[in-house]
Amino acid sequence: MIKYNIYLKLLKICKGKLIMQNTEEYQRKIKRIVISEEEIHKAVKSAGEKISIEYRDKPLLIVSILKGSFIFAADLLKNITIPCEIGFMAAESYYNGTQSSGNVRINLDLKQDISKYHVIIAEDIVDTGRTLNDIVDLLKKRSPLSLKVIALLDKPDRRTVDFRADEVLFTIPDFFAVGYGLDCGEYYRNLPYIAEYGE
Ligand code: IMP
Ligand code: MG
Repeated sequence: MIKYNIYLKLLKICKGKLIMQNTEEYQRKIKRIVISEEEIHKAVKSAGEKISIEYRDKPLLIVSILKGSFIFAADLLKNITIPCEIGFMAAESYYNGTQSSGNVRINLDLKQDISKYHVIIAEDIVDTGRTLNDIVDLLKKRSPLSLKVIALLDKPDRRTVDFRADEVLFTIPDFFAVGYGLDCGEYYRNLPYIAEYGE
């Protein structure tokens, strides 16, 4: 567990874009492996199998929220054994203080007409819940046949809006997570496991 002000400091550091090339420094900031590659693969395989049963003979679209979910979504698709499509969205949500404004800026939108699909949104992490809350509101307006959210990680201690994913693979305490798609300043996405980041 880390104190809230330290968390905010880490978030600030991670949002500032610096080009990193010092491998020793890069490795030093990986504090510990929290979820191993094996644990992730087991959970993703089981999630893919569940989806394959639940959505059999239904038009299925997995929506990957970029960039954080690109590895999770790819591995999830490899474990789905029924016909399915993938779509990509990139979004930023705007809020003042702890209040969600309900304004979500879509930087990349889906090509598919989702009224023809059962949609599953694949996200890397539910933190405050604001991004997913806004994306779900937006996609619901497009009348999908059904809409569910699957998240790799959930940090319920950090929630500021009333949002729950339909399926969560791992619930974690409040630390800054990197790896398996999650970044700090665009680095560490390629780690095959989830680690705790620290300065
Ligand atoms: P939200 O606060 O639930 O709206 O989450 C917004 C985004 O912040 C997530 O999709 C992640 O990309 C990012 N984020 C939140 N917590 C972490 C973390 O611990 N590590 C890396 N990225 C995070
Ligand atoms: Mg994200």
